[in-house]
Amino acid sequence: MSPLSIIITHLYKSVPKEGASRIILQDISLSIYPSSITALIGRSGAGKSTLLRCLNGLDTIDSGQISITPKSETQQRLDIAMIFQAYTLLSRKTVLQNVCLPITLQGAALTEAHTQKAQQLLAEVGLSDKAGSYPSELSGGQRQRVAIARALMLDPGLLLCDELTSALDPKTTVEILALLKRVNKDHGVTIVLVTHDMDVVKEVADTVCVMDQGCIVEQGSVIDVLMKPKHPITRQLIDATTGGALPGFISDRIQTNKMPNADIVLKLIFTEESSTKPIIAAVATTFNVCFSIIAGSLDNLSDQQTNHMFGHLWVSCTPNDKLDAAIHYMTDHGVGVETLGYIIWE
Ligand SMILES: Nc1ncnc2c1ncn2[C@@H]1O[C@H](COP(=O)(O)OP(=O)(O)O)[C@@H](O)[C@H]1O
Ligand SMILES: [Mg+2]
Repeated sequence: MSPLSIIITHLYKSVPKEGASRIILQDISLSIYPSSITALIGRSGAGKSTLLRCLNGLDTIDSGQISITPKSETQQRLDIAMIFQAYTLLSRKTVLQNVCLPITLQGAALTEAHTQKAQQLLAEVGLSDKAGSYPSELSGGQRQRVAIARALMLDPGLLLCDELTSALDPKTTVEILALLKRVNKDHGVTIVLVTHDMDVVKEVADTVCVMDQGCIVEQGSVIDVLMKPKHPITRQLIDATTGGALPGFISDRIQTNKMPNADIVLKLIFTEESSTKPIIAAVATTFNVCFSIIAGSLDNLSDQQTNHMFGHLWVSCTPNDKLDAAIHYMTDHGVGVETLGYIIWE
């Protein structure tokens, strides 16, 4: 099966509620490119799982369009595989039988070729030696590996993952995400994954789509959205990750109102390109704006081609009449700047 691409335009979905209807997805427009990894991120209840279910036809939509190409001659549902957070393996079947399940569910008889394919997929996910084991004998990470192998059994063009790693510990999460990336590369399968965790997005996705209250509030390449988050929800999700936020004892002291004698607090976001230039020194000499460094963090992000380093630096300074020009200068030189508020240092 060739990788699928999806174009969603003005999708609306509602559910009946107390005689009326409640809108769950509102004016969703989104393009998903073949062989890409797209992450849908948002807080709980944002509508992510519902959108995923609309994509594979488990949920109906009220209006709008979902156009999936290329159209298959067979039933399109078979070209789409889905993996959930809860391992949906059958406990009475062996790992190999679980991987073969999509074939048996079609009513087809298992052939030697099927078994060989299942074994090859198990090798791909690193579980050759577990073919005869039962799900209860596997760890959470291993069960998700089986679920991934099973999802690939019918050569899907699109793989939908709903909170695939949410029940896993951080180390296993990283391993499973690496596997997902390899599957994407080796099989060319288009992947849409739902998560509430920006670290997951950073780890695997090319494109991110931020959802809140049934709407898409921001979308773009992962690096652009992380570097220049526009929506408050996006910022919250970034701040919720490791290294994304200021220590609480400082953030608690930041006020939104300007106060006399207060310093302004900025968050600067650097990429590799901007981190090699003497920007802070230039701002000090040209605009007489001298930053005190409050905190900093380094982050690592990879897209299909390269690894990107980027860093956050929280700084404060006494505002002067050249501060706006200094901020302009920094953004012109590739530094993302967010004004967080004001603080009085005692
Ligand atoms: N079949 C349904 N009937 C009623 N409400 C639903 C149904 N499906 C989802 N919802 C509601 O829609 C909202 C979005 O749900 P969901 O897509 O599961 O969010 P997420 O996956 O982002 O946590 C939630 O408020 C949920 O309660
Ligand atoms: Mg969900």
